Amino acid sequence: MKILNFGSCNIDYVYKLERFVSAGETVSAKELSEHAGGKGLNQSIAAGRAGGEVYHAGNIGSDGLSLKKLLEDNGIHTEYLRIAPERTGHAIIQLDKNGENCIIVYSGANGLLNERQIDEILADFSAGDICMLQNETPCTSYVIEAAHKAGLRVIWNPSPMNEAVDRNKLALCSCVLINQTEGQYLTGKNTPGEIIRRFAALYPQTELVLTLGSSGSIYSGGGRQIRQAAFRAEPVDTTGAGDTFTGYFAACLSKGETIEEALRVASAAAAVSTEQLGAANSIPTIAQVNERLRTAQ
Ligand code: RIB
Repeated sequence: MKILNFGSCNIDYVYKLERFVSAGETVSAKELSEHAGGKGLNQSIAAGRAGGEVYHAGNIGSDGLSLKKLLEDNGIHTEYLRIAPERTGHAIIQLDKNGENCIIVYSGANGLLNERQIDEILADFSAGDICMLQNETPCTSYVIEAAHKAGLRVIWNPSPMNEAVDRNKLALCSCVLINQTEGQYLTGKNTPGEIIRRFAALYPQTELVLTLGSSGSIYSGGGRQIRQAAFRAEPVDTTGAGDTFTGYFAACLSKGETIEEALRVASAAAAVSTEQLGAANSIPTIAQVNERLRTAQ
């Protein structure tokens, strides 16, 4: 089963700081480094490293050819990644001493995805394939409707959460992955249990994976709930951990693995990803994930 990912590609500028900048304040960064990122690219690479057959769709500028090469080096198909007359998207990431981040995203070429491009790409995919997307590219509602109509299984990680997320489209998704803050925004509820109950009442056909950082994750769907504990890690940078989880989870589903196995593998992958600086480059290979699963027994 193929995975078609309509997603962003960013160049991440990571500034290491003692603490995050406050309003009206100027602080000096201790270090600046440049990495490949973007929620879309990160999720494609994670799904590819997990063994999925992944097609990345979107737009970069001619200054982002290294991102295309990185995707290809990871076995991702890039024929649907257009080189557009616009600068590549980028992110400015503040990284504090605890490995936590604050992110500003500039969409750049990611913002050029349009309905015509989406239609042309979707025509090459068929019922049963997976369509994955986030919320860093435009036309998310259009993608979801068109993919659903064509019989694809839609896996949506509506992140970053904002007013562009159309709640009505959640019902057309096969599976939605969100964190607790995103869950609170979507359901108006606070605790994980309340979020899950409200989501199930509103979207009974849609499976939900609620990620809870160091408290693990919970799957809810078809009247079942499955809990997965987080794997222990020594984090230096949590950027991209959620993307790693989503990409690994989607790839496991595409290979016909059970939800229990997909949650376990995705959680281990996310934990390992936090132990290195950067987003895409910190996503572990399946061999590294298996090693973590083995040693964590
Ligand atoms: O989820 C992490 C990603 O968010 C970063 O790679 C950055 O590019 C932003 O899109």
